[in-house]
Amino acid sequence: MDLSNLFAFVIFPYITLVTFVVGHSYRYFTDELSWNSRSSQLLEPKSLKIGITLFHWGILATLGGHAVGLLIPQRIWDLFGIDGEAHTQIAVWSGLLVGIVAFIGILMLIHRRYTQPRIRITTTVGDWITLIGLAFVITTGLYNVIFGHYYILDTVAPWIRGIVTLTPDPTLMIPVPFSYKLHVLSAFFLLGFSPFTRLVHIWSVPLGYINRSYLLFRRRPAIEEQI
Ligand code: HEM
Repeated sequence: MDLSNLFAFVIFPYITLVTFVVGHSYRYFTDELSWNSRSSQLLEPKSLKIGITLFHWGILATLGGHAVGLLIPQRIWDLFGIDGEAHTQIAVWSGLLVGIVAFIGILMLIHRRYTQPRIRITTTVGDWITLIGLAFVITTGLYNVIFGHYYILDTVAPWIRGIVTLTPDPTLMIPVPFSYKLHVLSAFFLLGFSPFTRLVHIWSVPLGYINRSYLLFRRRPAIEEQI
């Protein structure tokens, strides 16, 4: 058994997953008030709007695509008439589209953090690692989509399902090209690092907004009439 392969594709992913769970729980129970996205909209709203919107739509669609495409085994897709070749084509073209959207968004956010004085001064080392880390994961992902052309449904996909179901098989990753390994490992690094950053906001999706009643704003004269 190749020890470096065992470390990279079994031990390291589980270290990051344990850090992810323990880190989030610890932060939530010991420092709940820091659990937010640390919005910078009040400091500088103008250059935020487009970048943050593109990035969020792109990354959420990308994460959804990864979950559906990698975690559902190919034999289930076959039942719906989507064979490995069709699955790969759908993944490549949809991944390219949403990946480019996320890529443009993250570049705009990094540019904003660097060029806007009020944003730059309030940016922490953790923010830089998060933004540059996200840019790295997205760039390697796009590189693989455009130049990789490697069939992942017999290798990376069953390997990641093995990680999730606690039956990891690192030998599946041996033939995988380096650029794919880099993409996977950098994503796991970011997962382990995320509890210590503003990324904790991901787990506080404001679902209550969908169902809550409207806030009522009344004009001043109307209030004065009531008095
Ligand atoms: C689950 C749904 C999500 C919601 C509702 C959400 C919401 C927000 C909000 C309100 C902000 C603050 C924007 C501002 O400065 O005013 C933000 C920033 C941010 N979000 Fe999310 N987010 C979500 C998912 C994600 C995901 C999946 C990622 C990445 C994997 C992510 C990464 C970031 C980053 C890096 C920032 C900081 C950008 C910057 O200020 O430079 N978010 N998000």
